[in-house]
Amino acid sequence: MRLIVRRQNPRAFFLIPAAEPEERNLSLPSTVSRVNLSTLNKMKLQREPIVALTAYDASFARLLDAAGVDVVLVGDSLGMVIQGEDTTVPTGMDAMIYHAKCTSRGLSRALLMVDMPFMSYATEADALHNASRLMKEGGAGIVKLEWGALQLPMVRRLSECGVPVCAHLGLTPQRVFKTGGYRVEGRDADTAERMRTDADALVAAGADMLLLECVPAGLAAEIQSRVPVPVIGIGAGVEVDGQVLVLYDILDIAPGKRTRFSRNYLAQGGSIQGAVAAYVEDVRARRFPTEAYSFS
Ligand code: KIV
Repeated sequence: MRLIVRRQNPRAFFLIPAAEPEERNLSLPSTVSRVNLSTLNKMKLQREPIVALTAYDASFARLLDAAGVDVVLVGDSLGMVIQGEDTTVPTGMDAMIYHAKCTSRGLSRALLMVDMPFMSYATEADALHNASRLMKEGGAGIVKLEWGALQLPMVRRLSECGVPVCAHLGLTPQRVFKTGGYRVEGRDADTAERMRTDADALVAAGADMLLLECVPAGLAAEIQSRVPVPVIGIGAGVEVDGQVLVLYDILDIAPGKRTRFSRNYLAQGGSIQGAVAAYVEDVRARRFPTEAYSFS
């Protein structure tokens, strides 16, 4: 039997039997279309919830991809859940690239989002250099950076250079040494107003997505409806365009105390596959997060 190599997606090659000319296209496997920004924008418009979850290696990536997760995030949370650090601050570029590369090999459909770690985007030159490494070496389809007032020029420059960007607002764990702890952001009128104007400014500068962490559900819903790009939430209520959680939290194996907004899906699903499937179903049906996993 002759074999030909067919390229199904940018990173996966399959060996399939070569067909006779008249049989071509009859027995070929259908191609899996990859989730991209326009898929996610369409989902926002149709109010179809986007499912996102973190992963840090190829095996979990494959499992999440098969379960229908739309966006797989290699978060800098890997510093805590993989490397055993107390915060995300020590996570470096080499670790992000290594885990992004491993994760990208397990994905056929999901969009790969990769975090820019602490201080990797402190200047425009750093942001361009490091985002380029995450895309070229790590296989990232979009990079995420934590928002601070100085990040607007970085978002604009990355966007001008063709780098898809997700801006992370609300609780920004990379600033923990400055803020002194992890808390809900946007409860008082001034911070809430700043978050609305920051969201507008980021989108105007070219951000393709926003991620809101630990934001009151009402404020997150307002931001979801005022910006034209998908808004993913973690501890931001059910009305945003999609949800993300840390994989090790839903499997109840993250070190330390579980955060209020995450849920132990292993208890519900009974197995790793079952837990991921239960999370995917709950997000798609807007059954997660309930008020118990949100902030007011
Ligand atoms: O690093 C991470 O895993 C994240 C999620 C908490 C959204 O940024």
